[in-house]
This record gives sequence, C-alpha cells and structure tokens, in this order.
Amino acid sequence: MSQTVLILDFGGQYKELIARRVRECKVYSEIKPGDIAIDEIRKINPIGIILTGGPNSVYLEDSLHCDKELFSLGIPVLGICYGTQLLAFSVGGTVSPCPVSEYGKTKMRVDNTSALYSGMETEQIGLMSHTDQITVLPEGFRSIASTEYCPNASIENKKRKLYGVQFHPEVESTPNGTEIIRNFLYNVCGAVGDYDLKNLEAKLIEDVRKKVKDEHVLLALSGGVDSSVCAALLSKAIPGQLHCVFVDHGLMRKNEGDEVEKAFSNKNLHFIRVNAKDRFLMALKGITSPEQKRKIIGREFVKVFEEESKKLPHVKFLAQGTIYPDVIESGNSKAATIKSHHNVGGLPESMKFKGLVEPLRSLFKDEVRILGRQLGLTKEYVDRQPFPGPGLGVRIIGEITEEKLEILQNADYIFRYEMKKHRIKADQFFAVLTDTRSVGVVGDFRTYDYTVALRAVKTSDFMTCEYVPVPHKALGVMSSRIVNEVCGVGRVVYDITGKPPATIEWE
Ligand code: XMP
Repeated sequence: MSQTVLILDFGGQYKELIARRVRECKVYSEIKPGDIAIDEIRKINPIGIILTGGPNSVYLEDSLHCDKELFSLGIPVLGICYGTQLLAFSVGGTVSPCPVSEYGKTKMRVDNTSALYSGMETEQIGLMSHTDQITVLPEGFRSIASTEYCPNASIENKKRKLYGVQFHPEVESTPNGTEIIRNFLYNVCGAVGDYDLKNLEAKLIEDVRKKVKDEHVLLALSGGVDSSVCAALLSKAIPGQLHCVFVDHGLMRKNEGDEVEKAFSNKNLHFIRVNAKDRFLMALKGITSPEQKRKIIGREFVKVFEEESKKLPHVKFLAQGTIYPDVIESGNSKAATIKSHHNVGGLPESMKFKGLVEPLRSLFKDEVRILGRQLGLTKEYVDRQPFPGPGLGVRIIGEITEEKLEILQNADYIFRYEMKKHRIKADQFFAVLTDTRSVGVVGDFRTYDYTVALRAVKTSDFMTCEYVPVPHKALGVMSSRIVNEVCGVGRVVYDITGKPPATIEWE
C-alpha cells in the first residue's frame, strides 16, 4: 500500500491538477469532498492533506468548511487559495476582502528558510486569483511569502505542520509550483516516493486475480483508450479468462475497426468482433434529431452487447474501463445535461453479473496511457485523440446513410493525414459532414454536393476549447485534396468557434 495524500475539494477548478501534480512527485493522491468525516480521514491515514481552492468567502455562512479537528490531527496540511484562507480562519486568523485583488502571474518574495521554499530563489512567480486574503495571522503562524499587495501570500506553523499558499502552485503559470508541492510532500509530510506505475501494474494485476479467481470476465471493448488499456491489463492478469466484445457499429473512422482488431490479435483473450453496421444504419434510418440519434446508438449498442453476452453463460464478471475522472465526476456532478453522452460503461441493470471489475478506477488519463504503453499497446494507439461513443453518428448532420458515412470517413482521413503531415498541434480534430449542399462547377458541369466542415481544437479539459488557427496554406491543401479526392464533396469550410458557445462535436 502506497503512502496517500488526501486532496479535499472545496469547489475549485484545479483539484484534478493538484492530484496529478502530487502523483507526478511519486506520491499517491485521492480527492474527497471538503466536508469528509474525520473518522474517514483516520481510516485513509494520509501522510498529508491538501485543501483546494474554491469560489466562496470563508467568512460567509454558506461557504464550505471542513471539520476543525482536521488541523489538530498532527497530519501536515497545505491550504491552496481558498484552502489557505480556510486554514487560517479555522485556527483563529482573520480573512477579509483584498484592498487590491490580484489576478494572473504575480511576483513574490519567498522565505527559503521555510521547508516549503527550501532550495529555491527568493524571487518567485505565482499565479494569483483572489478577492479575499488573510489579514491577521492566527497565533503561532508566520508569513513566508509576500507580494506587493498580499503580505501573507504564504503562511507557516512549523510546529503544527500547517502551511498555506494564496497562489496556485498546481498550474503551469507558477513556474516552480511542482517544486513547492514536492517540498511539502518530502520536507513536511515525509514522503518516500513509493507511487510508480511499474509497481502499480503488478498491484492492479494482483487485485484482479484475487477478485476474479478462475471465473470468466466480459468486457465491452469500444476501441477507446480506456477500454483498450483495461483489456490489455486483464489479458495479462487472467489470460484465457477474458472475453472482449467489440461492437463495430460501422460509425468508426476509416480503417479503425480493423486497427482495434489488430491491436488485440496477439493478446491472450477471446476477441469477438460484431459487425453490426447494417443493424445500426437500419435503426437510424430517417432519424435527424441529434439526441434521438445518440439514444438509438446507445440503445442498439446495449442490445447487441446483451445478445453476445447471452452466448457466454459461463461469464461471471463484467469489466469496465472506468477511470478516476469518471469516478470524481459521478460523485459530484450537478451539471446540466447538454448532450446525453454514450459510453460503453452504461450497461443495464438487467444484466446479471456476480461482480464488476474496474481496474483503472484510480488512474488519470495520462496514467492510463503510460500503463497502456507498459502493457505493450503502441504509442499511436494509446495517444489517439478522444472519439465519442456514437462515433461518426454525431458528425453526420441530418440523416445517416451509408453514402454519407463513406464520404465523411474519406474526408476525415485526409484531414487527419494532413494535420499530421503539417505537424499542427491540436487536442482533437476531425471532419464533419454538414447537411448543406451547394452549387459548384467541375469542368463544364454544374455540381450540387455536400459541404464538409473541418474542426481542430485546443483544450486541456474538454469542458472549454479554443479553435486552432491552422495556417491558411495547410487549409488550402486540405480543402483541395478533399474536394478533388472525395466524391460527393463540393465545398470545405473551417470551424472557428470556441466552446462555449459551441460544443466540440457538432451534435
Ligand atoms: P462536446 O461535444 O460535449 O464534447 O463539447 C466534449 C468531449 O466529449 C467527447 N464526446 C463524447 N465522448 N461519448 C464519449 O465518450 C459521447 O457520447 C461523447 N460526445 C462527445 C467529444 O468528442 C469531446 O472530446
């Protein structure tokens, strides 16, 4: 069992980033709600606790607080932004609105005799974003960093191992932020750095074996990174006991179904590819509403999967590629449904299994990719960009037909090829087949063909995004290749909308 650092969530945007930074420092981290019970903390027995930022003011009645006993457990605490204000407020300090609010990269002077800044220059940059600050320090505390307008930009009570930073060490705009987190972990919490993915792989395999024993396991393999890494891990953990059902709904990118099959051909598992394109196209015939399309694809997927699972009555466990952000999200989600996302995870209760196997539940996406590489999946495979469960079904506007599917697959293939060739960096990029046809001229003939839209975005969380300014020269090449090589396309446009207000996918 690795040492654990608890991240307590007070509603800030960066909780996942904090947890990832801690793991990058080779210390295991877990995120829990800010008002977690003290007994639960004792059970987890963390070597340190980090309090996240949050949108409220600690002195307001409805702001989220933690149990004050947390500060007397003898466990080191690091408060970040709202977290530092909460720490100070809870142990007798005063927090008030700032005379001058600070936003953005801010110069700080730090006291490098403190364990938090040990080995660092006294001049540092920190990302500030606050309208409140600590105005009177609690007893036993001292200031260990200041900015022009914030005298207590960082605080310390060495004896009680309580620390706070008003700035955000977890973001890239604080250049030495990871160093500060590492100092907290190693100089204050006594971390030994026992979290690494090599050891974790062995532990995950052992856990699966303990749970599953000699029973058989069924996995819905979508071809996405999470379910693929899950399959690779399980085939190593329980060779010969894993059955992967890959429902090829025909809405994959060009050649993708074959690529998925190839990636698993040398693994020790029972790979079942169901070619269900005709069935999906039939169910989608005449449907134009985006939500209806999503629902039909989801429903049909479950039906096919159920049918296949009935052919394997000896299977007792269901495996899913659930990862840590899914766990955090489902625990705290109050967000409105913008689109009904379809993932292979959402299987019906009616399917009776003895248990669920979710070996990636504690991992972030980047860790899943590293594990995938460790398990022998190729870099191209694990580094693929996200692809929605309903596939090209939500990238064909209007009714989905076989002809439109082929047009989009070919246009998308060229676009992705040229993006790579021109070395254009984007987190997600794809083509969309709009339902608009327009008039053109080829030779002496009038044409009336579809318009393809190209979309490339930069994003870190997929909650918001900016469009990528693809150079016009590259766009020119893409456009000319698509209209010349893909029959049925007469015009190409580039989508320059950010999210919000547009979503990343068109439907
Ligand atoms: P939107 O379009 O909501 O997309 O801005 C955000 C991210 O989610 C992906 N996406 C999906 N992923 N099932 C998925 O697993 C889905 O149904 C789905 N719909 C959208 C989208 O590609 C983008 O990365």
